Amino acid sequence: MVNRRILTLDEFTIKEMRTVPRATGELAGLLRDIGLAAKRVNVEVNKAGLVDILGDMGSVNIQGEEVKKLDHYANTQFLGVLKHGISCAGIASEEMEDPVSFTDPISMNSKYVCMFDPLDGSGNIDVNVSIGTIFGIYRRITERGIPVRTEDFLQPGNRQVAAGYIIYGSSTVLVYATTNGVNGFTLDPAIGEFSLSHPHIKCPQSGKLYSVNHGNFFQFSSGIRDYITLCQEKGTRDGGPYSQRYIGSMVADVHRNLIKGGIFMYPGTTERPEGKLRLMYECNPMAYIVEKAGGIATDGFQRILEKVPESLHQRSPLFIGSRNMIEELSGFLD
Ligand code: AHG
Ligand code: MN
Ligand code: MN
Repeated sequence: MVNRRILTLDEFTIKEMRTVPRATGELAGLLRDIGLAAKRVNVEVNKAGLVDILGDMGSVNIQGEEVKKLDHYANTQFLGVLKHGISCAGIASEEMEDPVSFTDPISMNSKYVCMFDPLDGSGNIDVNVSIGTIFGIYRRITERGIPVRTEDFLQPGNRQVAAGYIIYGSSTVLVYATTNGVNGFTLDPAIGEFSLSHPHIKCPQSGKLYSVNHGNFFQFSSGIRDYITLCQEKGTRDGGPYSQRYIGSMVADVHRNLIKGGIFMYPGTTERPEGKLRLMYECNPMAYIVEKAGGIATDGFQRILEKVPESLHQRSPLFIGSRNMIEELSGFLD
């Protein structure tokens, strides 16, 4: 007998929608579509190695990086599902140089656009380590009824109406945030539904995990090096050294720190002063989620969410995680 009723993603978003006066259901529809595309990507991620989808595609994306087959597959899935859905006016993605506006009448009348990193941590695909998808949702600036334009996408992160990620890991988890807070859903393979497993996620104010690519240590500023040394030497106000954890899939690193408490850093380096991560579809959605959970996200100078974007694929340094840890770090940043 079922003695506890666990809400599915669809039920949860519809329930949330009903608390908003005059809500049209478009956001709930969009989140449902994202969940659907995620399930399709999940199936392929689980098959990686069995079918010829694993490995490099032998081409480079507009960032000049190798495109792995699953990156391409994930991009196609999210693009296809949203294009043929009824709640999205266009998308922009790491894998596409320009945004795509959907020109059928229903899509052109939709109010939301979506930014994606379809596959984050793609270097981990071939080695069975967690990877993910990141998305941010904005209300379009242009009027409905016409194709969306670049300006609809180039909005600061604090204009997001929702943001989320999916992790294809030991289980498949979808976390999304709105102004109402952050909630996580685990894919129940028995029924093929994302089911509410992490209600009201709050980021612990302090933690004992720090995440950074130590290989870049001597390319960091002296302030960052001093902070990392502090993590190793004496830990925190809470005492004890921090533990270092770095998966190399930002989405999974930030998810772990969001749940357990910790700090994730991808600072600028001497070679790449803006770091590696992309502002629009990596930093902004994660910053929105972590802030809604009570944490902080900064580029070292300002809040990530207040950065005014100049281009779709620009990079930004990122420091994100537990409030007290980021505050401690700020004493080390020039
Ligand atoms: P992507 O696979 O979308 O290109 O992103 C990879 C990113 C991010 O997920 C991760 O934190 C970072 O690259 C790892 O970079 P390093 O290998 O330089 O640490
Ligand atoms: Mn990425
Ligand atoms: Mn990617």
